[in-house]
Amino acid sequence: MNGGRAIQLALAAPLLAAIVAAFIFVSPARLYPWILSLHIVAVISWMAGLLYLPRLFVYHCDAETGSRQSETFKLMERRLLRQIMTPAMIVAWAAGLWMIWAGGLLQAHWLHAKLVLVLLLSGVHGMSARYVRDFAADRNRRSPVFYRAFNEVPTLLMVVIVILAVVKPF
Ligand code: HEM
Repeated sequence: MNGGRAIQLALAAPLLAAIVAAFIFVSPARLYPWILSLHIVAVISWMAGLLYLPRLFVYHCDAETGSRQSETFKLMERRLLRQIMTPAMIVAWAAGLWMIWAGGLLQAHWLHAKLVLVLLLSGVHGMSARYVRDFAADRNRRSPVFYRAFNEVPTLLMVVIVILAVVKPF
């Protein structure tokens, strides 16, 4: 094991133990605002990636295949997806599902609508991952105009999801 990995493990192990202990010893009602905070932090990180990645695709389209610029875009896209977006999506889902259970929210109509839109957002995540793979293999055939339009989808979904979660109109 290298030094970096050992430090990561030394930091992650007590953190994980503290999280497990909190779930065992702290009541769901007291834990709720903490999990909600975690949910919001994860959602912000996930959305940042979902909104920025299509912008990278737009610039990547203009970079010549095999050029240094193109290889740099590949690295940025892969790291953004793997190190930020996918972990953030998993944490947002886990915290959200826990709150549905702890808050007994399964009957709420606003939540049903929100879940449909969040599933669509997860689909946008899956499509973004496919586009990252296409660029990595130098087989992108889509235009910058396509990626500009694609960029609007997570924006629209985000606006409606936040209104549903905060206003709870029905
Ligand atoms: C990934 C799947 C998701 C699930 C299962 C989920 C579920 C939930 C649940 C159960 C709550 C607590 C509601 C309450 O206590 O009244 C919540 C809060 C919230 N969610 Fe999500 N959510 C998800 C994704 C998202 C996304 C993608 C966004 C934004 C784009 C978002 C924005 C919010 C906001 C702003 C709140 C705070 C609402 C408030 O306390 O006023 N959620 N979510």
